[in-house]
Amino acid sequence: MKRDVKIELRDIYKSFGSKAILQGASLKIDRGTTQVILGGSGTGKSVLLKCLLGLEDIDSGQILVDGVEISRLKGTERMELMRKFGMLFQGAALFDSMTIWENVAFVPLQQGMKREQAKDLAIDKLRMVGLKPEVAMQMPASLSGGMRKRAGLARAICHEPEIILYDEPTTGLDPITADVINDLIIKLQDQLKCTSVMITHDMPSAFKCADNMAFLYKGKFVAEGTAKDFKTTDNPMVRQFVEGRANGPIEVTQ
Ligand SMILES: Nc1ncnc2c1ncn2[C@@H]1O[C@H](COP(=O)(O)OP(=O)(O)OP(=O)(O)O)[C@@H](O)[C@H]1O
Ligand SMILES: [Mg+2]
Repeated sequence: MKRDVKIELRDIYKSFGSKAILQGASLKIDRGTTQVILGGSGTGKSVLLKCLLGLEDIDSGQILVDGVEISRLKGTERMELMRKFGMLFQGAALFDSMTIWENVAFVPLQQGMKREQAKDLAIDKLRMVGLKPEVAMQMPASLSGGMRKRAGLARAICHEPEIILYDEPTTGLDPITADVINDLIIKLQDQLKCTSVMITHDMPSAFKCADNMAFLYKGKFVAEGTAKDFKTTDNPMVRQFVEGRANGPIEVTQ
């Protein structure tokens, strides 16, 4: 069957000074699916999401969304494209000096939406992620880790993106709260019919949410397949990572 590709990374290279991070990363992500990206700490997973969002420039290669090369878009074209994306940053990254509703409605407020309307929209999104309207007026510091993730998620979906990027959505949460977030991600995926890209080290979360998985190692995707493929693969690197063993073919440099 022909694939319906939403996002394609073609031979992406990215360095910081002399430090090579992405070194020929290629991956196709199908429309309407959840793609999990696995890889060790410091391998460039967050950098990859930032390149996808246009927050970092790539050195070479191509990034296609709906078949259109996006990596060199600037100005209004870039702004238009950004509206397709929602992102849950590693650690939720809420603005501490703003109320929760202002955080959630950040993009619509930036785009000039009236405050009353933006607040109603934010309350609606907070409800979708299981937070009560009262939370809207609170400051981020008064929320628990799980609530902050939910608020970050409400912000990511506020402008109805076609693509949601999740950078370690369950890291730092207890296993039960983490699973509540997993269920929420699956529910949102179902409701919004978007394409999701999720970075995670949390294997139960990865296997629960993923349609497809890919493994980033030394700047390249060295394995990809369905979640089932990853569970049963005999690729020794994937096995070592999924099983969380120190001994194996993956070099640990830290
Ligand atoms: N703006 C930057 N300037 C210089 N180096 C950077 C920059 N951003 C990231 N790096 C480096 O790039 C490498 C990859 O970072 P990245 O944050 O993508 O790792 P990661 O795979 O997300 O790791 P983790 O699982 O720990 O979150 C790291 O060595 C990091 O120090
Ligand atoms: Mg990271």
